[in-house]
Amino acid sequence: MSKKKLSSKMRILGIETSCDETGIAILEIKKGKFKVKANLVASQAKVHAKYGGVFPNLAKREHQKNLPKLFSLVEKFILKKPPNLIGVTVGPGLDPCLWQGIEFAKEIAKKFKISVVCANHLIGHLLVNFLKFPIKKAKNFYPALGLLVSGGHTQLVLMEKFLKFKVLGETRDDAAGECFDKCARILGLSYPGGPQLEKLAKKFQKIFSKIPKNLKTLKLPRPMIHQKNYDFSFAGLKTAVLYDFMKRPKKERESKIYKILMAKEIQEAVFDVLIEKIKRAQKEFKIKKLFFGGGVLANKILRERIKKEFKKCEILIPQKELCLDNGLLPAVFAFFYQDKKTKNLEKIKSLPNISF
Ligand code: KG4
Ligand code: ZN
Repeated sequence: MSKKKLSSKMRILGIETSCDETGIAILEIKKGKFKVKANLVASQAKVHAKYGGVFPNLAKREHQKNLPKLFSLVEKFILKKPPNLIGVTVGPGLDPCLWQGIEFAKEIAKKFKISVVCANHLIGHLLVNFLKFPIKKAKNFYPALGLLVSGGHTQLVLMEKFLKFKVLGETRDDAAGECFDKCARILGLSYPGGPQLEKLAKKFQKIFSKIPKNLKTLKLPRPMIHQKNYDFSFAGLKTAVLYDFMKRPKKERESKIYKILMAKEIQEAVFDVLIEKIKRAQKEFKIKKLFFGGGVLANKILRERIKKEFKKCEILIPQKELCLDNGLLPAVFAFFYQDKKTKNLEKIKSLPNISF
């Protein structure tokens, strides 16, 4: 067991504004267990959908609007049982968005005279897995491999000990979720692209017997799959999708069958690479415990594939809603990093480019 001493009774307010979801959560810790008291998320997906991606200044305005709205929904509870710590996401993320959460956290910290922990969004995505277990599980889960796949990141991380992260590899260009969003846009689908592609890919069995001859050969590359490292690259995949799309007659590329086939192939290409790299790392480091996080893990096809491919491992994947950005990510981070809490609010700054 790690020597890190963790308080056994706490109430933490989590504030998340790193990208396009505003999240406010209350996490209680009692007798070595977590209890989620509130987890409210205001998604901006619809606001950004018409632009095909997230506009930082528009997102900032939405956070500004949503934070007090969400907070008012938990205010009664907070006044009755005030939090004794705040966890706020300070990075990585979009700078103007991060600042909205930080300023809001500072105001509340002043009001309740409590400390703040500056939360790392990436670590939060992985630690959120432990919410459903007694806290001692999080301390004894190692060595383990973590895979974080979101709209901004694709990273394979080795955790030899509790809270000791080592990035084995990461994407050299686009993240997997970003690749889904860009490919979806090429196909004329709305933002965020990941769920749209998943919806289409699930229709594959229905059209299987109707695939025309010229679409039967549709195949995309699996970038870097055979390279003996743990890095990823998904920008080329998006370019391959664009070339295929451009070379086809308008009627064909706008057909439902083409979109379904393309969605399935894009997903398979990305998932094949992710699985292959985990397998290699798992063998090299002789690891039997895997944990996952990030928005792309909301994908049912990927979740099922992971469970099938790594039957001999213990696998942790957060429930679907907790894969996406939410206030529990900084709250759970704040619990495990409570020794980093500060009352020096002036020093809290955004860190848009931090890693593990
Ligand atoms: O973790 P997240 O909510 O935000 C970031 O920190 O980036 O991840 C958002 C990403 C988007 O790129 C979105 O398309 C992708 O996760 N995503 C999915 C699914 N749901 C969200 N990708 C594939 N399948 C899904 N069901
Ligand atoms: Zn995220």
